[in-house]
Parts: sequence; structure tokens; C-alpha cells
Amino acid sequence: MSRPTALTDLIPSRHPLIQAPMAGAQGSALALAVCAAGGVGSLPAAMLSPEALQAELQVLRQQAQGPWNVNFFCHPSPTADSATEARWREALRPFYDEAGIDPAQVPAGAGRVPFSHAVADVVEPFAPPVVSFHFGLPAPDLLARVKRWGSVVLSSATTVDEARWLQAHGADAVIAQGLEAGGHRGMFLTADLSTQLGSFALLPQIAQAVDVPVVAAGGIANADGVRAAMALGAAGVQVGTAYLCCPEASTSALHRAALMSEAARHTALTTLFSGRPARGIVNRLMETLGPLHPAAPAFPLATGAIAPLRNHFEALGRTDCTPLWSGQNTSGCKPVPAAKLTAELAQGFA
Ligand SMILES: Cc1cc2nc3c(=O)[nH]c(=O)nc-3n(C[C@H](O)[C@H](O)[C@H](O)COP(=O)(O)O)c2cc1C
Repeated sequence: MSRPTALTDLIPSRHPLIQAPMAGAQGSALALAVCAAGGVGSLPAAMLSPEALQAELQVLRQQAQGPWNVNFFCHPSPTADSATEARWREALRPFYDEAGIDPAQVPAGAGRVPFSHAVADVVEPFAPPVVSFHFGLPAPDLLARVKRWGSVVLSSATTVDEARWLQAHGADAVIAQGLEAGGHRGMFLTADLSTQLGSFALLPQIAQAVDVPVVAAGGIANADGVRAAMALGAAGVQVGTAYLCCPEASTSALHRAALMSEAARHTALTTLFSGRPARGIVNRLMETLGPLHPAAPAFPLATGAIAPLRNHFEALGRTDCTPLWSGQNTSGCKPVPAAKLTAELAQGFA
């Protein structure tokens, strides 16, 4: 097969622009708005129950204009162990004390489920045009199943090695996720954060290393950013943070306010909210414990112990313990309809 010159050869949308799937911050409403504007809208499925996933897939199948994407995590499921959980709760004790919460009463919870044959049973009847993964790819038999029903398969790479691995294991396109990106790092071959590159360094090196189309992600917030990515070898772009303040997103009012404030100039990678490094606006929990904490249990087990603290402070109108996922470039975060943002970004392809 000769190399496609643009992402639209693989995914026939009007623009080679994917709205990044953002678990916890959006559902089908944002995806539909982006599809109607000629981009590829995404549904993040990592935090959806099977029933909620099915309902969202029904909406997309019935209403989406043009190709759409469903996104899954494919992390290994860790086994909870009580000693690790106890250490984690001890690290959080000052916050529990302040909130008047007894850590012994806090239920443990996984928070996010990886893609599985059970999830595939829900998805298969809908045969989504595109399926994207974060944290690698599912096991070969599961990936083969997704390909059999006809979805184009994408996954995030945070290093050149990961991009080569994804191509070798069947990804139809690779998303080069620069260090600027909001949310979880998609890293899966290494846990060493010193391997992580910014978009300007990562993108051209991945574009040179693989034959499949490369989608640039991380720090793109306007048409100039799109142009820069395309000039550096991208076949398309994936934009997340800039969509977070669109009315079609389900981003909370507190999160929106933080994204559009001076606080958004300081983001960091943190393991506190899930156990894996993810980029968010620095808040009191991150400042107090340090963003990367050795006691945080493996992904996604850190989430359960934080949940009641998050709820406590949010009820007071505060984001002390809220994950404020955000990329480094929030200059595109405005309360404008997703169609308007999509049209603005798409000018970068002209
Ligand atoms: C709030 C938020 C949630 C995210 N959740 C997911 C997710 O569920 N799945 C995924 O593959 N990527 C997720 N990401 C990462 C995006 O796919 C993408 O890499 C990133 O948004 C690109 O950088 P940008 O935020 O600077 O545009 C998330 C990003 C944000 C900001």
C-alpha cells in the first residue's frame, strides 16, 4: 500500500481534524457538533458503563454526519493490595482530617475499565468508523476483532519506539502525543518520564520513523498550530484542551473557570488522581503532596481514595482535590460553539 498523504484518505471526513476523546469532560454532544462541522468527533468510553456506552453509540449512529471515533483505554488491570491502599490513604490523611472524612469508610473503586471482549460485544453491532486506543493496543485477538468489523484503528505514541511498535502491531495511524498534551500520557512501553518529548521534537521524528499517517496532538489551539503541525509532517491533528470550554462539552463550571484563568498557565504531570501521569492545572493537592507521589497506587486504583475529597471541596466551590485536566496551551479555551472552533482550526489546512 502506498503511503496516504492525508488522514482523510483513511478517515473520509471533510477536515483531517480529530476532536480528542476526553473522558469525564464530554460525550456524544461534542462529538456530534464536531462531526457536523466536518471534523471527526470522538466519544471517550473509558469511564462509561456498558449501558451508557450503548446509549451513546446509538446517538452517534443515528445522528453523526460523517465519520466518528470511539476511544478506549487498554491498560493492564492491577490487583488491589491493602498495604498499598493504606499507604495512599495515610498520605492523604491531612486532607481527610480537614474534610472530616474517615478514610476507613471510603470505598475503593477502579474508576476506569480497559477494553475487553465484553466491551467489544457492546461496540460490535455499531461498527464505529474509527476506534482509538490510549496506553497501547488491546491483545491481538481483540484487536483482530475490531479490525474485522471494519473500524480504522488509531493509538497514541509518546516516543518514536511506541510509534514503531504501534505500526508493527496493526495501528492504521499513529497519534503523536507531545508532552504539552492535556490528560493522561498515552505512554505504554516505558514509565520513564524523561523519554517524553514536546510536540515539535516528537512529531517530525515519528513522521520519519513510520509509514502510516501521523496525527499531531498536544498544544494545538488555533489554525497556526494546525499549520505548524502539518509543516512538521502531520497527516492530521487531534485537539483536546481547546474544546473543553465549548458549550457542548460537559466540563464542570469549576474546571471551565480554571481553564480560562491565570491558573491555567501552570500545569504539571501528576499521578495523584489515577496512578498514571496525566497533565492538569496545579491545585492544592498537587502543591501539597507533590504531583508525582510514590504512594499513589497503580492506575486506575488511585482514583477511589480521592473521590470523596474531590466531592467535599467541590461542594464548597473549590478545586483543591479536583483533577483539572488541561494541556499547556489553553489559549484556545473559549465559550464558543464547537462548530466555530472546528471551522477556525480547519483554516490551518487551507
Ligand atoms: C480533559 C482531557 C481528557 C482526556 N481524556 C482522554 C481519553 O479519555 N482518551 C484519550 O485517548 N486521550 C485523552 N486525553 C488526551 C487527548 O487525547 C490528547 O492527547 C490531548 O488532548 C492533546 O493535547 P491538547 O489537550 O493540548 O489538545 C484527554 C485530554 C484532556 C485535556
